[in-house]
Amino acid sequence: MRGLWAVVPAAGRGTRFGSEVPKQYLDVDGQPLIAYTLAALLAHPLVEGAVVVVSENDADWPGWNETFRIAAAGKPVSTAIGGATRAASVLSGISALPDSVRADDFVLVHDAARPNLALDDLQKLVERGREDPVGAILAAPVRDTLKRAGDDGGIDRTEPRERLWRALTPQMFRRLQLSKALEDAAKAGVEATDESMAMERQGLRPLLVEGSEDNFKITTPADLARFRFILSQR
Ligand code: CTP
Ligand code: MG
Repeated sequence: MRGLWAVVPAAGRGTRFGSEVPKQYLDVDGQPLIAYTLAALLAHPLVEGAVVVVSENDADWPGWNETFRIAAAGKPVSTAIGGATRAASVLSGISALPDSVRADDFVLVHDAARPNLALDDLQKLVERGREDPVGAILAAPVRDTLKRAGDDGGIDRTEPRERLWRALTPQMFRRLQLSKALEDAAKAGVEATDESMAMERQGLRPLLVEGSEDNFKITTPADLARFRFILSQR
């Protein structure tokens, strides 16, 4: 079986989190958050290495060496400079993949802000995704009842939640197809908020692979508190 490379977008500012240091670099039990994310990805035997996409401001972050030493487990990890949107950052990461990653090889894209990815979920995604011609994403079914709000904050109606899923990461697509899809979306002025959205625009139908709700994205301080709690229970 061919190995896989991962692209880890980490060039965001964490506006909703609101900390001075971007959330991916916050210390959690002596390690920066992003070290947990990298370790979770690189724990998979088929994951050969990773490109971490950082913002220009963070490229010289002094924690990198230590992070890579802890998390990379001897696997190659390099950095690329990101862009103004997540999609631009991912595109930059794909361009920075080594030449050994062929055009039709699958690549994993995983948010730096999702440190709690379980190896089981990653394994399930890789197994199911590589059998799909397009690729696959981890996702979770919507469980809450959905309300459509009016301008005044009142509820206009209840939306059916049947067949609605929340897109998680990693998402797994072929290198060339994904970069083309992201480029096309950018040219059309469409901001693809995940890789799958760019692929769907091409008329492709990625596979949904149900993943754990525990693979949540750190968006606000409450999410970080939840992750700290999970760590304390490990
Ligand atoms: N990301 C990126 N480049 C951007 C924007 C986001 O690489 N221009 C990354 C983030 O670092 C994060 C992932 O994409 O790992 C998911 O984005 P999100 O959780 O929205 O993080 P931020 O954009 O940093 O947060 P916010 O939207 O609150 O500003
Ligand atoms: Mg964002």
